[in-house]
Amino acid sequence: MKTEVLAGLAREQKRISPKYFYDERGSALFEAITELPEYYPTRTEIAILESYGDEIARGVGDSSFLIEYGSGSSRKIRLLLESLRPSGYMPVDISCDHLLAAAEAIASEYEWLNVYPTCADYSSDWELPFTRDGVRKVAFFPGSSIGNFEPTDARRFLSGVRRTVGEDGALIIGVDLKKSTDVVERAYNDAEGVTAEFNRNILHHLNSRLKGEFNPERFEHLALYNEEAGRVEMYLVSTTRQTVMLGGEQVSFEQGETIHTENSYKYDAPEFTSLAREAGFNLGGSWRDESNYFEVFLFD
Ligand SMILES: C[S@@+](CC[C@H](N)C(=O)[O-])C[C@H]1O[C@@H](n2cnc3c(N)ncnc32)[C@H](O)[C@@H]1O
Repeated sequence: MKTEVLAGLAREQKRISPKYFYDERGSALFEAITELPEYYPTRTEIAILESYGDEIARGVGDSSFLIEYGSGSSRKIRLLLESLRPSGYMPVDISCDHLLAAAEAIASEYEWLNVYPTCADYSSDWELPFTRDGVRKVAFFPGSSIGNFEPTDARRFLSGVRRTVGEDGALIIGVDLKKSTDVVERAYNDAEGVTAEFNRNILHHLNSRLKGEFNPERFEHLALYNEEAGRVEMYLVSTTRQTVMLGGEQVSFEQGETIHTENSYKYDAPEFTSLAREAGFNLGGSWRDESNYFEVFLFD
């Protein structure tokens, strides 16, 4: 982590990977974001899963073992569990304490379900801790977290998912669609400032993990939609000229200098389908909301 973070902060455009938003506080802040009126993705994807969960489950078939990437609170998988009745559920997340608490809750709520929480960084070379023969492995990747990858990295990641689930496996994935700048920018600039606090949490997290001395209040939240590139870009802007100790090294900032903390790519349906096809997935079905904000895809 230290090597990766310091290398990112040594670049001309300083950057920190969005995976470092998530410690326990970051996960809690993300949950708060999902409740905000401006943040349409969570409630839209949930509405799609509520309306079409049975249809999606029919597309998957009778025998499945579920692997959820970036499972967070495991809220959305609940909408598929009864119709899928998988032989096991493996939530995978980098925010370990939050993962374990969510896994315990789901295991006690669904007594028939075998739950295998797995703390891992899915963007690294990780492998399933064990495999199951004779059941179809089904990856679930909701929340449009695929949009946090650059498109070429997204293709590489999806190829890895293909290898993980095998040739007879499947992928259920939620994708935020391209839409008007207004709607998108409002979602990442809420009136209460929860997203701003979530953004600054990356610095709190670095302080605790890498003996950092960031004063997060000296950084402002900035999120804008780059329509040409089809992505929301999120930054922390240094409000002053400052030098900060991190992992035993000094990192300097000019006033107004930015740290890039997240991209969130939005896709058109054909664009995403062809990206998935390049990673070896064939479209099995897709479901979207009436406003055309969000789409859930099933790939075989
Ligand atoms: C945007 S939240 C989405 C949570 C949930 N899947 C949803 O749709 O509401 C991203 C989740 O992925 C996890 N995460 C982010 N980067 C990760 C990585 N590289 N490896 C594993 N988990 C990651 C975070 O801890 C968080 O729980």
